Amino acid sequence: MGHQINPPAPAAFLSSLLVDALNNGMGVFEMGMAGTAMERVVIKTTAKAMGLGDYADGFITSGGTLANLTALLAARSAKAPEAVWEEGAQSRLALLVSEESHYCIDRAARIMGWGDAGVIKVPADEHYAMRTELLEDYYRQAQKDGLTVIAVVGSACATSTGSFDNLEAIGAFCRQRDLWFHVDGAHGGALAFSGNYKHLLKGIESADSVVMDFHKMLLAPAIATALIFREGNQGYHTFHQRAQYLWADAEQTEWHNLAKRTFECTKQMMSLKIYAILYAHGLDLWDAYVTQMCDLGKTMAELIEAKPGFELAVAPQCNIVCFRYVPEGAAPESLNALNQTIRQQIIEKGDFYIVQTMLRGKAYLRVTLANPFTSKEDLETLLNEIVKS
Ligand SMILES: Cc1ncc(COP(=O)(O)O)c(C=O)c1O
Repeated sequence: MGHQINPPAPAAFLSSLLVDALNNGMGVFEMGMAGTAMERVVIKTTAKAMGLGDYADGFITSGGTLANLTALLAARSAKAPEAVWEEGAQSRLALLVSEESHYCIDRAARIMGWGDAGVIKVPADEHYAMRTELLEDYYRQAQKDGLTVIAVVGSACATSTGSFDNLEAIGAFCRQRDLWFHVDGAHGGALAFSGNYKHLLKGIESADSVVMDFHKMLLAPAIATALIFREGNQGYHTFHQRAQYLWADAEQTEWHNLAKRTFECTKQMMSLKIYAILYAHGLDLWDAYVTQMCDLGKTMAELIEAKPGFELAVAPQCNIVCFRYVPEGAAPESLNALNQTIRQQIIEKGDFYIVQTMLRGKAYLRVTLANPFTSKEDLETLLNEIVKS
């Protein structure tokens, strides 16, 4: 229950042995034919669960951080006023994103050379979701500052608290302003497979691009991430390059030559690990697992609320829960140090693995419930351990 890594399903980790034994490169079809076909099945299945429509297409890539950068490169290719790939940047480009977003969005913008000004952080509300009603003001201010905003990134969900941005509102704003709508669903995109929780992703179906990790909430071993474009062909505009030794025609949209669209040239055959889960269990396993983990988040919140001396940061929407120990009579200024010490002691004792996060200057304990064998009793034991420590 520490960081956002799920236990891998046996079908998936056993297939990893085969992945390494075959050692297929996957850059072009002839290097990994079966893996490329499985990748297509996995991507189409995920796009369907998200409601992205018949033209959606994408690929699997090495992690959410790289996938978000790749999506934003595609956004730049589609929306920058100049052809940055050929001419270099002529204008000062920027994106809008919640202040609670994962650091990799900020990092991606800086890698693209947009600097400090290129990442415009929109404040979050009391639930740590983007205040979408401020988008227009921030957009206008950016224009006044001489920036060209090309994209808005929705967080599904925010890393620290697991809060979901209002994707419908962000999508509507992007359509109105003709901006690229990207969803960072590295963690919470998986909720698309849960009948009970997919409503938190309402609006994702209108995204131009979506990133989702299979290794956070879909039982795949790290690392395997989907990057999906609603208009699948958008994925081909990211990189315009010739590679005579790999493909004959640089202009053709060949779904089977994956390196035309991916950052990687040699790429691990990640698709098998996911396909193995689908093949062995079907979509029911993901539905059951994601639903169970999100339900457990709610159970934990109930236990925290019922236990004297504990405080939730925010009602959890999925399997990430942030809380702190606030014993009666403790001086408010001592609480950060107290909770940081508790986390250290819990880790050192070794019965539980929890993490910590800072929210608006306050230190919180944080869990990501990912193990299907974690019970309500385990959670009660954890809270009792915290009181004892
Ligand atoms: C919302 C979000 N985006 C992106 C990432 C980065 O994904 P990865 O660790 O697969 O690079 C994370 C990781 O925690 C995340 O929570």
